[in-house]
Amino acid sequence: MSTVHASTLRRYDPVAVFLHWAIALLIIVMIPVGLTMEDWPIAWRFQAINLHKATGICILALSVFRLIWRLMNPAPALPDGMPGWQRWAAHLSHWLLYAFIILMPLSGWLMVSASAKYPIVFFGVGEAPFLPMPADAALTKFIGGLAHEVHEYFGFVAIALILVHLGAALKHHLVDRDAVLVRMLPRFLTQRGE
Ligand code: HEM
Ligand code: HEM
Repeated sequence: MSTVHASTLRRYDPVAVFLHWAIALLIIVMIPVGLTMEDWPIAWRFQAINLHKATGICILALSVFRLIWRLMNPAPALPDGMPGWQRWAAHLSHWLLYAFIILMPLSGWLMVSASAKYPIVFFGVGEAPFLPMPADAALTKFIGGLAHEVHEYFGFVAIALILVHLGAALKHHLVDRDAVLVRMLPRFLTQRGE
């Protein structure tokens, strides 16, 4: 916007932009639902848990596709004047966010597959399968426990990570006044339709 010119702005490609915002919105709903759904009134609880599980599996599919897309389409270079530690922090936090959008749904799916107690009702159109587990019951229990820990603790780490990520995006836009936020926005939202 302010210091950005249409001719010089290198954006994220439309697929990356669509996947970023679709996954971001879903995650922002999934975390509070995940944290509270076990305490919801009984009439909504099972519905909410199943929606959480089915949506989570969709997020996993989108995230795997997004990661492959990203590896095939490098991100635009960061602004020239950015200090080294900020570049390093940006890369580290982005790869941690990629790890989160894959490991969080995968750990959830592994956790419910290990217990295999309730089916994963998939938006009322059938059931999603459980992931295969080893024949050894003790090993299955161990995998389930580990996946549960990952699902629980990674959720809290991710809240902090997302808040830092949001803060960094706003700082770039409002303080540094560079193109870092604009290039991740859909074209129709930017002022000059660059
Ligand atoms: C990106 C996707 C996902 C996010 C962000 C997410 C987030 C969360 C969070 C923050 C919690 C609360 C953790 C706790 O307090 O224990 C939770 C709980 C839970 N999630 Fe997910 N989840 C995702 C995907 C999944 C998937 C794919 C499944 C299963 C197929 C799943 C199944 C569950 C279950 C069963 C619980 C309740 C765990 C308990 O007993 O405490 N989640 N989720
Ligand atoms: C809360 C609102 C959010 C805002 C304002 C935001 C903003 C941004 C911006 C501006 C970039 C581009 C940085 C650059 O130009 O180099 C970006 C990249 C990224 N964001 Fe977000 N984001 C948000 C939420 C999320 C969430 C919830 C996730 C996933 C959990 C996420 C994951 C990522 C990843 C992985 C990248 C790196 C993209 C790449 O270079 O491949 N973002 N975000």
